[in-house]
Amino acid sequence: KQTVRDIDVRGKGVLVRVDFNVPVNEAGVITDDTRIRAALPTIQYLIQEGAKVILASHFGRPKGKVNDKYRLTTVGERLAELLGHPVKKLDDCIGPEVEAVVGAMQAGDVALLENVRFYPEEEKNDPDFARKLAVLADVYVNDAFGTAHRAHASTAGVAAYLPAVAGFLMDKEISIMGKALAAPERPFVAVMGGAKVADKIAVIDNLLDKVDTLIIGGGMANTFFYALGREVGKSLCEKDKADTARQLLDKAKTSGVRFLLPVDVVVAETLAAGVPTAVVPVDAIPADKAALDIGPESVTLFEQALAEARTVVWNGPMGAFETAPFDQGTLGVAEAMAKVKGVSIIGGGDSVAAVEKAGLADKMTHVSTGGGASLEFLEGRELPGVAALADRA
Ligand code: 3PG
Repeated sequence: KQTVRDIDVRGKGVLVRVDFNVPVNEAGVITDDTRIRAALPTIQYLIQEGAKVILASHFGRPKGKVNDKYRLTTVGERLAELLGHPVKKLDDCIGPEVEAVVGAMQAGDVALLENVRFYPEEEKNDPDFARKLAVLADVYVNDAFGTAHRAHASTAGVAAYLPAVAGFLMDKEISIMGKALAAPERPFVAVMGGAKVADKIAVIDNLLDKVDTLIIGGGMANTFFYALGREVGKSLCEKDKADTARQLLDKAKTSGVRFLLPVDVVVAETLAAGVPTAVVPVDAIPADKAALDIGPESVTLFEQALAEARTVVWNGPMGAFETAPFDQGTLGVAEAMAKVKGVSIIGGGDSVAAVEKAGLADKMTHVSTGGGASLEFLEGRELPGVAALADRA
C-alpha cells in the first residue's frame, strides 16, 4: 500500500482517520493512551511537512446520536499534551461551520473533528456522509488500524473521493503482521488463548496453514480436552464446539503442525482472588472444580517451543489473568515471548493488556493496536480499511 511518504502533502488539507477509541474510567479519564501515542509519528510527520492536519476518529459506541459522554474533548487535550502542539477540537465533524474552521487552517495546524459515530451515516458507510468528510481535505490518510475491519464512511467510504494512503501506524501493522503470515522466519509458532474457541475458529484454521507449532491455552483449551474425551469439571467449555475442536486437531495432524495443549492446569472452586487453588494434570480435573489457568509444567512446555521459534504471534490470555493468582500462566508466556529470538507479535486485545501489566511491551517486536482488527487480519481476511487504500505502483 502507498503511504503518506508517497504523496505530496505540503500545504494540503489532509484528513487523517485515527483510532482514538481509548479506554476511559467512569470519570472519563483516559486509562491507556497507547492508541494516541501510536498515531503521533504520522501526525508529527504531517506537521513537519506543512500539511493542515484534520483528524477524525470514533470513540465508543454512541449509536448514531450526539452524546456528551462520547465527545473527543479529553482525547484532544491528551493529544495536544503528547504532541506539544495545539489541537483545535471541533464540536462537529461535517457541515458549514467545520468547513469554515478547516478552510482557515494554516500549514502545520492540527484540528480534531468530533466523534464521527454521532452520525448514523458513519457506520452505514453512507456515500453522502463520506463525501461531506472528503470536502474538508485534499488527501485522505488512514492510520486507524484498530478500526480497519469496519467498512464505515471514515474508514473506507471516504477513499472513493480522495487520494487514499496509509499512515505510518497502519503501514507498520500490516507490514509486520503481513510478513509474519506470508513469509515468516521459521519455526513459526502461534499462541492462542482466551475463553472461547468460537471466537478463534477462523484464526486457528488460517494459522494451521502457516505455522509449525500451534499452542492453545486459556479457557478454550477445555473445549479441546472435552473433544478428546476428558473430564473438565466445572471449567468453561463449549460442548457444542467439540466437533469443531476435533476438526482443528485433525487439520493440524494432516498439515504436520505440532499442536500443543496444556499438560497441567490450576484449578479452584470459584474464580475469585485468594481462593484455595491446586495444580493438577489435565486428565485429573476434579468434577467440582474449574481450570482457571495453565500450570507450571505447561508454561515450561510452551517456553521450550517459544525458545526455538523465530516468529511468534500471540493472541489471548492463558487463564483468568485479571484475577491473581490465575495470571501466572499468562505472565509466564509473556516472559517467554520477551525472550524470543526473532519476531514477536502481540496480536491485540487481552494479551496486550497482559504484556503491559508485565512491563514487557517494549521487549516485543510489535504490539498491535487492533483488537478485532488484528484478529480478522490473522484470519487472513482483507480489511475494508486497508482494501480502500492505493496500492504501490
Ligand atoms: C476497537 O476498539 O476494537 C476499535 O476501535 C473498533 O471499535 P468498534 O468495535 O466499536 O467498532
